[in-house]
Amino acid sequence: MNAHVKNLRIADHPVDAQFTGRWSPRAFAAEAMSQADVLTLLEAARWAPSASNVQPWRFVYGLRGDAGFAAIADALVPFNRGWAEKAAALIVIASKTTTLKDEAEVPNPFHAFDTGAAWAQLALQAHLNGWAAHGMGGFDHAKAAANLNLPAGYAIHAIVAVGRQGNPANLHETLQARERPNDRLPLSETVRHASFA
Ligand SMILES: Cc1cc2nc3c(=O)[nH]c(=O)nc-3n(C[C@H](O)[C@H](O)[C@H](O)COP(=O)(O)O)c2cc1C
Repeated sequence: MNAHVKNLRIADHPVDAQFTGRWSPRAFAAEAMSQADVLTLLEAARWAPSASNVQPWRFVYGLRGDAGFAAIADALVPFNRGWAEKAAALIVIASKTTTLKDEAEVPNPFHAFDTGAAWAQLALQAHLNGWAAHGMGGFDHAKAAANLNLPAGYAIHAIVAVGRQGNPANLHETLQARERPNDRLPLSETVRHASFA
């Protein structure tokens, strides 16, 4: 529970509180993150499952105030930069799109799926440690690739803002009303028994 925003999410079936408790705020407190704080989140991502255990995920992080943070923030679309540059850390989530097979690099069809699993573990560990992680797809891919020296054969999927949740009053007023946990589709819209039909 956060002092600023009440989380009224209710699960339809019993799940651990971390799943409804994690959400994506945009208001961050001034508190800084240490390198150790960030590495703990990346350690959680490290233990994600992946096809043939190839671990295709790659991460680049910056801490507020350093050159890495500025390079990542520079790639965000203005809407996201407006709030995310107050985060304590920015983490770029990328993956290696190929894998070694019979001594040749071949496309890895699971690179994005596996990297999504790693991001979810990062976000949940952040929540468990009292941080908030907010994923963003709104960034300039070419700029991110150039700013961060992305090698060929790698794809950037998202940028994540991480920080201690802050007071929504510090957000631009258009964002204040959106600063609350949202809901989910019921399982009846996303789950079928035995067949997709
Ligand atoms: C891949 C991805 C891209 C997203 N892109 C943005 C974004 O560009 N800007 C933003 O404010 N939120 C973005 N979000 C946050 C989602 O809107 C949010 O996760 C979703 O509404 C569910 O809310 P919750 O995370 O609070 O549970 C993104 C989330 C994901 C996973």
